[in-house]
Amino acid sequence: MAGQTTGRHLFLGTLVHSKSLSELEFLQNTAVCVDDKGIIVAIWPNYDQIRAEKSLYPRLGWSRGDVTVTRAKEGEFFFPGFIDTHIHASQYPNAGIFGKTTLLDWLNTYTFPMESSLSSIEKAKTVYTRCIQRTLSHGTTTASYYATISVPSTNLLADLCLSFGQRAFIGRCCMDTLSPDFYRDESPASALADTRATISHIAEIDPSNTLVTPIITPRFAPSCSSELMHNLGALQKETGLPVQTHISENTNEIKLVGQLFPDHMSYTHVYDDHGLLGPKTILAHAVHLSDEEVDLIKKRKGKISHCPASNSAITSGTAKVRKLLEKGIEVGLGTDMSGGYSPSILEAIRQALLVSRHVAMEGGDECKLSVEEALYLSTRGGASVVGLEQTIGGFEVGKEWDAQLIGLNQVDSDESINARPVDVFGWESWPERLAKWVFNGDDRNTLAVWVKGRLVHEVKS
Ligand code: GUN
Ligand code: FE
Repeated sequence: MAGQTTGRHLFLGTLVHSKSLSELEFLQNTAVCVDDKGIIVAIWPNYDQIRAEKSLYPRLGWSRGDVTVTRAKEGEFFFPGFIDTHIHASQYPNAGIFGKTTLLDWLNTYTFPMESSLSSIEKAKTVYTRCIQRTLSHGTTTASYYATISVPSTNLLADLCLSFGQRAFIGRCCMDTLSPDFYRDESPASALADTRATISHIAEIDPSNTLVTPIITPRFAPSCSSELMHNLGALQKETGLPVQTHISENTNEIKLVGQLFPDHMSYTHVYDDHGLLGPKTILAHAVHLSDEEVDLIKKRKGKISHCPASNSAITSGTAKVRKLLEKGIEVGLGTDMSGGYSPSILEAIRQALLVSRHVAMEGGDECKLSVEEALYLSTRGGASVVGLEQTIGGFEVGKEWDAQLIGLNQVDSDESINARPVDVFGWESWPERLAKWVFNGDDRNTLAVWVKGRLVHEVKS
């Protein structure tokens, strides 16, 4: 439960996090002290020296008895929890199922029927429970979720995130037009009322949003009337809550927006003109934006969720991430499951690296992302996208302990060859180990995961 005390923790060993977009920092033999609210209160390099002086606990005013100690073994390291800035919890059962579809037929064939079926609260419970457990097991400590139009099942997603301990933004999907009869809001007014119902529910279960926060979620411009988007823009102004939606994902979608909203200069202007583009707006995809649209997003301080696995799977296109970064726009990574086939942000990192190489084959070498940059996007970049850059994304005093313990397979250990899929021979540098993890790792390497100091996943050994 939110606010539940987690006890005091001491984490010992190697920590890796982003120092900047292009540089990782490797902190070895380090002690991190986390208080009972999950906040990092001290980081001490050279732990062995401090231990030799026996001064660690007295320095903190802690007594040895009430501290849980977790030690990263030789070759293991703590890494900040991943932040998935765009994921549809309600589409989890469809992960991997997309055939040869593209966005608009994919929505009608696979997505709307699945989401609609989650108005069954029993089915929603099964799907959401497994989605949260699975994403936690892949190291996702924060997720910006789309649920469905159903208020009870959306509220259940919030309850489950709270009880499993995943930090989450919970979006009740709004869609009052151009959607199937079996899955659409009755009216702009009912969509607004239902959005308020989820906001009220979250205010009851986690009043200070320690873990769970509502997010205003117009699905995308083609499925929202102008009146609905005005309502949601006004709601954002009233509440200050974040907004998430899709933008410029697929060329047919962009054409459709042009036909539906002929009086607006561009897809980006449609959101801007309805009060939906601001510093708390997360725009997913942004594959085909014009220069003018990129400038407008920058001017409004809008954020972008890059979803490379999805953009390849449903053949949407290649987002120009280097250009967005050079503009100074904050970018994070999203799985966009199940447009994306995987719940893993490690997979999104890998795909971001590969897609950037496809962009480079046409646009020049500078378009390539480095391993360091992709890891930044998955942590600090994502934290900025969801507005939590002061709270998560790296290891600093005052931030909260959202972290994963990563273990690679030391070939001289007695681990079974299948236990961990990345073999380390011992001569690799730390940057090389991180690169091997990124390209060959999976959830078998994610040994334990904490959110706000609470252990939320652990591989049983
Ligand atoms: N556009 C509108 N809805 C969706 C969705 O569920 N997934 C993706 N990828 N794009 C969308
Ligand atoms: Fe999406």
